[in-house]
Amino acid sequence: MSFLIIAIDGGAAAGKSTTARALSSRFNFLHIDTGSYYRALTAELLRRGLNPAEVTAVESALAELPLGTVVDGRRAQIEVGGRLVPEAELRGPAVNAAVSHFAALPAVRAALLAYQRDQARIAREHRFAGLVMEGRDIGTVIFPDADFRFFLHADPEERARRRAAEGQQDSIAERDRLDSTRKAAPLLCPPGAIDIDSTFLSLDEVVARVSGPIAAQMGA
Ligand code: CDP
Repeated sequence: MSFLIIAIDGGAAAGKSTTARALSSRFNFLHIDTGSYYRALTAELLRRGLNPAEVTAVESALAELPLGTVVDGRRAQIEVGGRLVPEAELRGPAVNAAVSHFAALPAVRAALLAYQRDQARIAREHRFAGLVMEGRDIGTVIFPDADFRFFLHADPEERARRRAAEGQQDSIAERDRLDSTRKAAPLLCPPGAIDIDSTFLSLDEVVARVSGPIAAQMGA
């Protein structure tokens, strides 16, 4: 059986997580939400009282932070310095406000690069049929040779509405601006990726569009 790598990129609240979860459950893929990795590193750096302007101090902190992985059902979670950061902290306002600033630092991206690629080994060891990884630079930097690369986008008003419906306070427009304009691995549609505008699609319709070519390849 071949092992498939699926990359899903897109801006905040574009529907990546729901789509990735649906693929993971339908095809038995390990689901990796790399946004939660950047959030976990951010939470730990904030706990240490660091801010993104203190580049040297951030670099030293990263050098002494071991990263581990816990596979929980079909989902991979990162352990930073032996700690799983609670979901409420990961999605809280302090991390929402700081994450894109930390994620723009080359040292932070470098700390996660090999770690993210190594998740393919973990998925194979756990006998998954593949992995579905979502983020901002998966199809451009982490797995440019992925079997399938998707880029999801939607109008900013629709994305803000979705985030508010989740009960979250989150300035997604500001994060998108920072993510798209940074020098290191900016958010962009990977060349050759399948580009899906989800503004007027239900999540089921997005999942159907993404699943189609994968099911065809897997003969499922
Ligand atoms: O859930 P949402 O789409 O709002 O964001 P997220 O996926 O949790 O990602 C949080 C932040 O992490 C993003 O705004 C980016 O700044 C950063 N990130 C990144 O730089 N590269 C990735 N591959 C994933 C996330």
